[in-house]
Amino acid sequence: MPDSIIKFNNISYKYSSGTVALNNINLDIIKSKKSVLLGANGAGKSTLMLLLNGILKPTSGTLLFNNQIYSYKRSKIRDIRKSIGVLFQDSDSQLIAPSVYEEITFGLCNISKDKLWIKNQADMVIDSFRLDDIIDKPPHQLSDGQKKRVCLAAIVAMEPEVIVCDEPASNLDPQSTEMMFNYLDKLNRQGKTVIISTHDVNHAFEWADSVIVMNSGKVAAKGTPTEVFSDKELINRCGLKVPTIIEICNKLGINSYPENINMLIKQLKN
Ligand SMILES: Nc1ncnc2c1ncn2[C@@H]1O[C@H](COP(=O)(O)OP(=O)(O)OP(=O)(O)O)[C@@H](O)[C@H]1O
Ligand SMILES: [Mg+2]
Repeated sequence: MPDSIIKFNNISYKYSSGTVALNNINLDIIKSKKSVLLGANGAGKSTLMLLLNGILKPTSGTLLFNNQIYSYKRSKIRDIRKSIGVLFQDSDSQLIAPSVYEEITFGLCNISKDKLWIKNQADMVIDSFRLDDIIDKPPHQLSDGQKKRVCLAAIVAMEPEVIVCDEPASNLDPQSTEMMFNYLDKLNRQGKTVIISTHDVNHAFEWADSVIVMNSGKVAAKGTPTEVFSDKELINRCGLKVPTIIEICNKLGINSYPENINMLIKQLKN
C-alpha cells in the first residue's frame, strides 16, 4: 500500500444551514502523487478542501496528516497550514493584503522572523510566477487570472508539503492554464503532494495519478484515470463526461486507452 499523507476517517460535514456537504468520507491521499477531485456542482469538493487546512472542522470523524490526528488548537492549526497550502476557488476570499508583495510575504511573516529568509522566499516566487510587473499593485485591482497566480505564489513561498488547489484553472486563459499546470507538475516532481479539483475531465484524464469522484457529499469512486473513466454508468450518474480521448477510442474500437492525445496519434499512425 503506497504511503498515505492525508487520511479521512468517516468524515462528515454539516453547514450551520443544515446542508450535509460531506457524508461519511473515507479516503487516503497518496503522498507525492497528483490527485484530482471531480464531481458536479455542489458535490462537496470545496468543502472537502476547506477541511484539509482546518478552515472547516469536521462535524464528525477524524482527519490525519502524516498519521497525526488534526488538532484544532491555534498553534497546531498554524502547523497544518504551513504544511498544507490551499488555493481557494474564489481568489477574493484569499487575498487580504494591500499589495501583491505584502500578500506574498504575509504568510511568511507568520511563520518566521528571519527577514533574509522571507525576502529570499518572496524573490523566488516573484521570479517563478513572473509577478515583477504587478508586485506593487493592490490585489483587488488584478484580473482573475493574475489573482490566482498571486494566491498560488503566496502558498508556494511557504513551501508546504501538500498543495491543494480548488479549480486552479478557472478563469485562466489557455497559456496561463498551461503555466499553472506546468508549475504544479514541477512541484510534484520536487516530491510535493498535489490535489486539485476541476470540471475539466480531459485535463483530469491526462494529468492525474489518481482520480476521486464525489457525488452528493460521498466518494463515489477512486482509481486511476483509466479505471474511473472506463465506468460510463458512474460518469453519467455523477454528472460528469467521458474525456474526448476515451470517446474517440470507443468509437474506433480501441480498448486500451492511451495516456494522452499524442500517444493516441502515435498509435493511430502505426
Ligand atoms: N457556506 C455554505 N453554507 C451552507 N451551505 C454551503 C456552503 N458552502 C457550500 N454549501 C453547500 O454544501 C454543498 C457542497 O458544496 P461545495 O461548495 O463543497 O461543492 P463543490 O463540489 O465545490 O461545487 P462546485 O463545483 O460548484 O464548486 C452544496 O450543497 C452547497 O450548497
Ligand atoms: Mg467548489
